Amino acid sequence: MNIDQVKNVAVLGAGSMGHQIAMLCALGGYDTYLQDINNNALNEAKSTLEKRMNDWIKKNKLTENEKKTAFSKLHLTTELETAVAEADIVIEAVVEKLDVKREVFSKLDKLAPRHAVLATNSSTIVNSKIADVTSRPDKVINMHFFFPPLVMDCVEVVKSDQSSNETAQLAMDFCESIGRTGVLLEKEIYGFIANRLLFALSNEAMYLYENGYADFEDIDLIAKKALSHPLGPFELADLSGIDVGYYANLQLYEETGDPKDKPAKSIEEKVKQGHLGRKTGKGWYEYSERAVVK
Ligand SMILES: NC(=O)c1ccc[n+]([C@@H]2O[C@H](COP(=O)([O-])OP(=O)(O)OC[C@H]3O[C@@H](n4cnc5c(N)ncnc54)[C@H](O)[C@@H]3O)[C@@H](O)[C@H]2O)c1
Repeated sequence: MNIDQVKNVAVLGAGSMGHQIAMLCALGGYDTYLQDINNNALNEAKSTLEKRMNDWIKKNKLTENEKKTAFSKLHLTTELETAVAEADIVIEAVVEKLDVKREVFSKLDKLAPRHAVLATNSSTIVNSKIADVTSRPDKVINMHFFFPPLVMDCVEVVKSDQSSNETAQLAMDFCESIGRTGVLLEKEIYGFIANRLLFALSNEAMYLYENGYADFEDIDLIAKKALSHPLGPFELADLSGIDVGYYANLQLYEETGDPKDKPAKSIEEKVKQGHLGRKTGKGWYEYSERAVVK
């Protein structure tokens, strides 16, 4: 299959990532199904995207007509079968838990057309850990978008030993067709590139904070002022979701058993308290209702 033959896309999971990835696909002209097991997530996705596209119109980034066309291509459903029945490409963006992703891919493999490419947007999990539940590991690949996908222009496209060159090429061409820069990684590694760099920084920031060398606000301030980072590591955790980092760490710890990979105590506490960052209005920092972004 080549990119000109791709007409239908399905995005699974309508959370922070999925709803925006689906919008990108619809804006790119693809008939797109956005699926979630939770109807509320779909309703919220729709109203958030309406608001976001209206903002784009105000900023002259989009016309009324383009908005209308894109929304006519975006379909919401709770039914996996409906979402993937005619899909040429499926992008899975459900919660970062290996067992959940494996279950989704196993069902997906039976429901999606034989030719469909199945991509995971996991932040950390290499696709070979998932592809073995399907009958088409050559068509499974990582397509790692960054938060927020409507803004961030990068997708790590990661091959396993079994992903075919054709699949990788299609994923790269697809990124280009939706206005995103794909970067192809031929060799898979847990966390890929961006998050491995980020983990190194965040782990050090957490070590300094938990051992009393500096408060988290000051660590953020130094990262911004001295290193010219646009956000400090704690601000970034709030933006992308403290639970996302927590589950990623937990996954790594399950794989390696290395105590240094265990989620930090203060992160575990925040997840238990439901203080997950901007999406809940409180994380490392507090956010007023207006500042809460999804
Ligand atoms: N948040 C980020 O910054 C970020 C960045 C890049 C990649 N990712 C990855 O994207 C994926 C989703 O992350 P998120 O932040 O959007 O999570 P989220 O918690 O905001 O959303 C996950 C959504 O998946 C839905 N879901 C759960 N199980 C499902 C199933 N079986 N079928 C369909 N939907 C299901 C949930 O109802 C929820 O709406 C994860 O793999 C994460 O690692 C996240």
